[in-house]
Amino acid sequence: MTLPTINPTTTKAWEALKSHYEHIKNTHLKDLFERFPNRANDFSISWNDFYVDYSKNRIDETTKKLLIELAKEVKLDKAISHYFGGSSINETEERAVLHTALRAPSNQNIKVEGKNVIPEVYAVKEKIKNFSNQVISGELKGHTGKAFTDIVNIGIGGSDLGPAMITESLEFYKNHLKVHFISNVDGDHVHQNLKGLDPETTLFVVVSKTFSTQETLSNATTARNWFTKKAPKDAVGNHFVAVSSNITNVTNFGISEENIFPLWDWVGGRFSLWSAVGLSISLSVGYENFEALLEGAYEMDEHFKNTSFEENIPVILGMLSIWYNNFFNAESEAIIPYSQYLHRLPAYLQQGIMESNGKSVDRNGNPITYQTGTIIWGEPGTNAQHAFFQLIHQGTKLIPAEFIGFKYSLFEDQDHQDKLMANFFAQTEALMNGKTKAEVLDELKSKNLSEDKLKKLTPFKIFEGNKPTTTLLINKLTPKSLGALVSMYEQRIFVQGVVWNIFSYDQWGVELGKQLATKILSEINNAKVYQHDSSTQKLLERYLTK
Ligand code: F6P
Repeated sequence: MTLPTINPTTTKAWEALKSHYEHIKNTHLKDLFERFPNRANDFSISWNDFYVDYSKNRIDETTKKLLIELAKEVKLDKAISHYFGGSSINETEERAVLHTALRAPSNQNIKVEGKNVIPEVYAVKEKIKNFSNQVISGELKGHTGKAFTDIVNIGIGGSDLGPAMITESLEFYKNHLKVHFISNVDGDHVHQNLKGLDPETTLFVVVSKTFSTQETLSNATTARNWFTKKAPKDAVGNHFVAVSSNITNVTNFGISEENIFPLWDWVGGRFSLWSAVGLSISLSVGYENFEALLEGAYEMDEHFKNTSFEENIPVILGMLSIWYNNFFNAESEAIIPYSQYLHRLPAYLQQGIMESNGKSVDRNGNPITYQTGTIIWGEPGTNAQHAFFQLIHQGTKLIPAEFIGFKYSLFEDQDHQDKLMANFFAQTEALMNGKTKAEVLDELKSKNLSEDKLKKLTPFKIFEGNKPTTTLLINKLTPKSLGALVSMYEQRIFVQGVVWNIFSYDQWGVELGKQLATKILSEINNAKVYQHDSSTQKLLERYLTK
């Protein structure tokens, strides 16, 4: 065993948190601020260009102390050193978890099974750099001698979400290359994207760690067929490259070895954007920006590794998530970036957080008796305010929300920025304070309403408030700050997985569906449906009746 295997519910801190919860559960955030006007200082962290304010959470000093004791009792510190040190903490797949090595400086010595992996990491980085520079400058050309204009990333899950989210988040920093992402096995997705592309100027980047994923192989085959209908077969080599750890499968597909950007089994799919999986990021924003992204992530890794738990952003945010999930029984968490560029961040984090921590067996192989895996959702503000915020404000569910905003906008339109940020600040204040009956009455009275109308409207206009939020105020959306932000979430996933005593880096749950789909596809191909439950049987028969 490389990670501790402590059931968190057996710790002293868990017991203490249970009784502490009974004591604090009805306390209103407004009262906490009244009693402790300095809360904003006590519950905030300044780090680089990040300011993390977690004072609008339903906690006091005792909660923080106990949550940190819990982290200590489950031996989080020991787990962190195993993780960064390259131990096989992904025990069910017998692998190390070292996406952190992808952003480590070249002078580090990070060993997997006795071998320093850093030289290989830097060799691949050099390959990414040279290739990106050549494509961007137009030095590397398509088979008819034209420079590339379009990049098509074909991949799914971590081989799509990471590069797609970062490319869109960094659109401001983009060069002339147009980048497209094809992921879904839905043929309409690939055909819609191919429509309008010119095979002479299109470069396909096929990304699949295993190179055995049905969706990616189908889409890559369709793209290759589309290409060879319009171009000679031997031109495939000029227009298709692959990112994979399965060299045999890639070469069998027809992509030569020199066009493969390798990755390693110690890089998990949902944590792989820092590897060659990020090739389309580097193509889109240039290698220097890709490197700045890695640098930001590295700085957050260092903060996580070296800072006391009390001042450690991923630890504090991870423990807060546990507080709501396991003591308040909150079912979900909202992530609201106040930047349109970050509109794919919640979807990206859904894979990161839910594929990692959606587990119900502990590290001893026993069924779990407590809640794990938070449900993540969100959309950018202010759009989200006009969509689902009503439920967060006045619904029956407790939904802790995380607000991510930037001090400076990229186009420097101060008027828009001030309006955006006014909403950003107003929402967390409104969620906390709500509106009391007295406030509602005052407001309605000033409108000269009849007594009857006043009475009728009042209950609907009351907001209970006391809705917890955490605010991340970052200076500016840059490749570096984005790298730090994503790394922060990765480390939070780790913290929560350690506390919940689960393996965060496997994903056996997605396998069953894949197996059954293969079986059903062969039935569809043979137009013969074998024994299923009556529901599936009828559905399949109806589908097959043309
Ligand atoms: O959904 C399961 C999964 O294995 C993800 O973890 C992974 O990111 C995705 O499939 C794609 O895998 P690959 O890169 O091997 O095609």
